[in-house]
Amino acid sequence: MSASRIGFSAPSNIALIKYWGKGLDQTPKNASLSFSLKNSVTKTYLDYQEKIKGEPQFNFSFEGKSERSFHPKIEKLFQYAFELYPHLKGYSYKIESENTFPHSTGIASSASSMAALSLCLTTLAKNLNEPLVADHFTASASYLARLGSGSAGRSVYGGFTLWGTHEQVAGSNNKYAIDINASIHPELKKLGDTILIVSSEAKSLSSSDGHKLMNENPYAVTRFLQANLLISEMMGALKSGDMEKLGLLIEKEALGLHALMMLSQPPHILLKPNSLKLIELIQTFRRESKLPLYFTIDAGPNIHLIYPLGLKAKVEAFIQERCLPYLEKGFYIHDEIGEGPTCL
Ligand code: DP6
Repeated sequence: MSASRIGFSAPSNIALIKYWGKGLDQTPKNASLSFSLKNSVTKTYLDYQEKIKGEPQFNFSFEGKSERSFHPKIEKLFQYAFELYPHLKGYSYKIESENTFPHSTGIASSASSMAALSLCLTTLAKNLNEPLVADHFTASASYLARLGSGSAGRSVYGGFTLWGTHEQVAGSNNKYAIDINASIHPELKKLGDTILIVSSEAKSLSSSDGHKLMNENPYAVTRFLQANLLISEMMGALKSGDMEKLGLLIEKEALGLHALMMLSQPPHILLKPNSLKLIELIQTFRRESKLPLYFTIDAGPNIHLIYPLGLKAKVEAFIQERCLPYLEKGFYIHDEIGEGPTCL
C-alpha cells in the first residue's frame, strides 16, 4: 500500500451525567451520559505512508500550525493504537486537524479531536485486516478514543450516548460507549445547547488533574453510587419524554460536580461570580416564564443552556435581554444535538 488519506469529522459532546474519577486504563468510576453536538466538531485528515524501517513517525498540524502542546495526547493515542493494531506501526503519519469552534469555551476539544483521530486509525486498522477490538467498527473506534480521552469515547456516535457499566442499561460497559438513542423519547431528541461564555481563560484545573483529585476525595464512593442512581432516574425521564424531570436532574448533577470540586483536597472553585449570576437568572426566568430552560456545567465556569430546540428564539431573547452583561465580550455559542461523525 502506498500513501493514502482517511478523514473524519467528529463532534464534541456535553455530558448530562459526568465522568469524574477514573481507574487504570481510563476505566470510569461511574457511568456517564451525554449527547453529541452538531456544530462543534473537529475535522481530521490522516495521511499515511508505508515506511521501510525505523520507528513510526507522525507529523501533526492544528489549523495549519505545528501545535506542540497537543503532541503528548496524540502520541499516547498512537501508542494505544499500536498496541491494539500492530500493523499500524508499519506507517508514517501526517495529521491535519481543525476545529469549528474556539478554544477554552467549555466545549471539549479533546473529545472531538480524539474521536476524529480514533475513527481514522480504526478505519486504517480495518483496511489492514486487523481484528477489531470490539464487535463492530464504531464500538472499536470508541474503545480507542476513550483510551485517548475518556469523554472522547462518547463522541463517535450521534445523539445520546452512555459510557460505563450500568446495571440497568443493556450492553453498557467500561471499555466503549454505546448508542442509547433507541431509549430516548422523540421529543427529547431535539435539544439545544447554548454555551454562555463567562471566561475563555485556560482552565485552572485540567480534567486529568480533576479525575486524580477523586482518588482522595472523601465523598468519592457516595458520588459514584449517586451518579449511577441519577442515570437510572435520567433514563426514565429520557424514555418518557419528561423534560422537567430531565432538566432538574441535569442541574442537580452539574452543581454536584462543582460541590465535589470544592470538597477536594486542595479545594477548587471553578465557577466565577458571573456563573452564579447566570444560574440565578436561568432559575428566575424558568419560574417566571414556566419555560423548560435548564443548565449544565463542565469543569469550568461556562454555562450550557439545555432546552427543547423549539424554544431557541425565546432563549435568544432571554440571553439578549438579561444575560449579556455577565458574558465575556457578550459571547455565546448556539449548538444542538447532532447526528455524529461523518467520513470526509
Ligand atoms: C467534566 O474526558 O477530558 O467534561 O479522560 O483525562 O481526558 P480524560 O478526561 P476528560 O474528562 C471529562 C470531564 C468532564 C465530564 C464529562 O465529559 O463526562
